[in-house]
Amino acid sequence: MELKTKILQRLRNAEAFLSGQQLSEEFHVSRTAIWKVMEQLKDEGYQIEAVRNKGYRLVNSPDVLSRAEIKSLLPPGWAQAEVVCYDETDSTNLRAKAAGEADGKPGTLFVAERQADGRGRRGRRWDSPGGESIYMSLLLRPKIAPDRASMLTLVMGLSVAQGIQDETGIACGMKWPNDVILAGKKVCGILTEMSTEIDYINYVVIGVGINVNQTDFPEEIADVATSLSLATGKTYRRSHLIAAVMRRFEENQAAFLLTEDLKGLKDAYNAILVNRDQDVKILEPGHSYEAHALEINDFGELLVTLPGGEEKAVRAGELSIRGGDTYV
Ligand code: BTN
Repeated sequence: MELKTKILQRLRNAEAFLSGQQLSEEFHVSRTAIWKVMEQLKDEGYQIEAVRNKGYRLVNSPDVLSRAEIKSLLPPGWAQAEVVCYDETDSTNLRAKAAGEADGKPGTLFVAERQADGRGRRGRRWDSPGGESIYMSLLLRPKIAPDRASMLTLVMGLSVAQGIQDETGIACGMKWPNDVILAGKKVCGILTEMSTEIDYINYVVIGVGINVNQTDFPEEIADVATSLSLATGKTYRRSHLIAAVMRRFEENQAAFLLTEDLKGLKDAYNAILVNRDQDVKILEPGHSYEAHALEINDFGELLVTLPGGEEKAVRAGELSIRGGDTYV
């Protein structure tokens, strides 16, 4: 771990002042090296109080998405993982896929302040202005059968909803399969892409866009999109949210890998499924039909009853509300 990350972690967890001497002994570097890192952190916007004979104390952190900031907050399971941050990139999914094609390490997290070519599901754009929201993509190389991989999208969706709740106290819902919903509107979308062979996964990229402090949306999505800030009037620190989501993902992914299905997670997912017991329209490529949504099964399929009473498990598709004028 980089010295800056380690120092940031220590400052954050310290209950009192940390002396330069103590830090230099702990990390086996000179006091000048410690001082230099403190200066760098101050330049990046961290408010660090330095008191003679006492040492350093972190007073306030900026809402920056730097590698050191994110790494210093990630749960232990991601300690060895790479974090790659961009001020601007085309799309973090494209960056993660390029790493997947090369020798990118599984667990690498790509994060951008803004995206010039943010992508949504089904070829849509994902509006990605800078400084307010989260755009991140996780590269994984799971050793599971390719037909199990799409469930990882639901694992991430659930982790986002739970991470938001842990960090902010805001209760979100899930719109099947993987939109996170707040006050009837979409607050997070997930785009999973993968490269597989018949019986082998080369890589999976899970791209997550969370609307955090954004208060303006383009007209065409304004009635279906919301952000944490719009819903509560508060602002949130993005790095802490990323860490909270990754903490949940670490746990949930372990539960998923145990059975290679959603047996251990479906109750938590169904408990926040906003489509439960709703009449919905299922949109599949080329056609759509009406049904009554029940809940997801072990494989993340949506169980529905058709108008004739027959039960069906829907594998993939999108939902819209029958005759409704709200998003969910
Ligand atoms: C959706 O249409 O609901 C999925 C949106 C996914 C957006 C995220 S933002 C980070 C990552 N990079 C992209 O270009 N898209 C995903």
